[in-house]
Amino acid sequence: MSAKVSKDIIILGIEASCDDTSIAILRNNQILANIVANQEVHNEFGGVVPELASREHQKNIIPTISLAIQKSGINMKDIDGIAFTKGPGLMGSLLVGSSFAKSLAIALKKPLISINHMEAHVLANLIDHNPDFPFICLTVSGGHTQIVIVKDIHDIKIIGETLDDSAGETFDKCAKMLGLNYPGGPEIEKKSLGGNPKAFDFTFPKVDGLNFSFSGLKTNFMQLIQKKSIKNTHFINNNIKDLCASIQYTIIQILIQKLKIAIQKHNIHKIAISGGVAANEEFRRSINNLQESHGVNITIPKKEYSTDNGAMIAIAGYYKYKMQQFCNISENVDPRYKLQYQL
Ligand code: KG4
Ligand code: ZN
Repeated sequence: MSAKVSKDIIILGIEASCDDTSIAILRNNQILANIVANQEVHNEFGGVVPELASREHQKNIIPTISLAIQKSGINMKDIDGIAFTKGPGLMGSLLVGSSFAKSLAIALKKPLISINHMEAHVLANLIDHNPDFPFICLTVSGGHTQIVIVKDIHDIKIIGETLDDSAGETFDKCAKMLGLNYPGGPEIEKKSLGGNPKAFDFTFPKVDGLNFSFSGLKTNFMQLIQKKSIKNTHFINNNIKDLCASIQYTIIQILIQKLKIAIQKHNIHKIAISGGVAANEEFRRSINNLQESHGVNITIPKKEYSTDNGAMIAIAGYYKYKMQQFCNISENVDPRYKLQYQL
């Protein structure tokens, strides 16, 4: 193994806020390994079952770290800092990840770095890239839908967010209504292939400014299915592709519409996206189209850095390490941990 150059910083990132256990190892802003252990136990329930999630994290965390170390080619003693998700997320899941991070920090005698999960989604855009501030980031995950302005690594301000459901949750709930497995986003994306995105018209939420609302759309979707299924019990099966393409199209249009307002209002022409929904091909294509139509520069993280992953925790940890922002062993997790800079 090559000798460690002194200026290199090696961070181990641990993400366990919801249903995926993920561990990454980073050298400076480059990812050496990013291993994700998905939890399939939730598929049949249409959503994450918190108690099952924490038990799965307990089972998966050691094999995941072993794989990450092996793949990265580093030695445990090369690690400079250990970053973990403090929140937001599920209490049980966060506790498994944070306890493991703390034990490792004690054993290796290395600093501990606590990370906000939403901030990490945004900073996933800096993996393999040098930061180019300021930029607008639209984060679309299962728990949140937020538009933020990133002026600097430690200056992230929320300028719009959902008033009720998130976009990811809307994918998940609509998928459940169609009898599809959890997580619903990738299922809807698969089924939408070859479907007509304009086959069904759904009402657009009327929310002023940069905030979002998705609960009306979800109700609209449910009412359509119920009404049509009374007349035709095979309605869902006969129209699954069109239903998926139409709901996907509508969710994406709502997101893009707000992003366009944000670009104009704040006159910032560098755009990034993040969060699980950013793995959606149709969404990525629509965002890329803004490049021509609105003259903006787009950054889109690789799919593996869009859905929950340890790499985003490691990159956030890397920047905090450089600023010597460490926490101590008594740091608590916070299931409702907010981004520091609010609207
Ligand atoms: O960021 P994430 O992995 O976890 C949270 O922090 O919540 O986001 C999970 C969400 C789920 O709602 C899932 O259905 C959605 O991201 N998702 C997708 C796709 N992949 C994941 N939504 C649409 N299309 C996808 N390909
Ligand atoms: Zn997430």
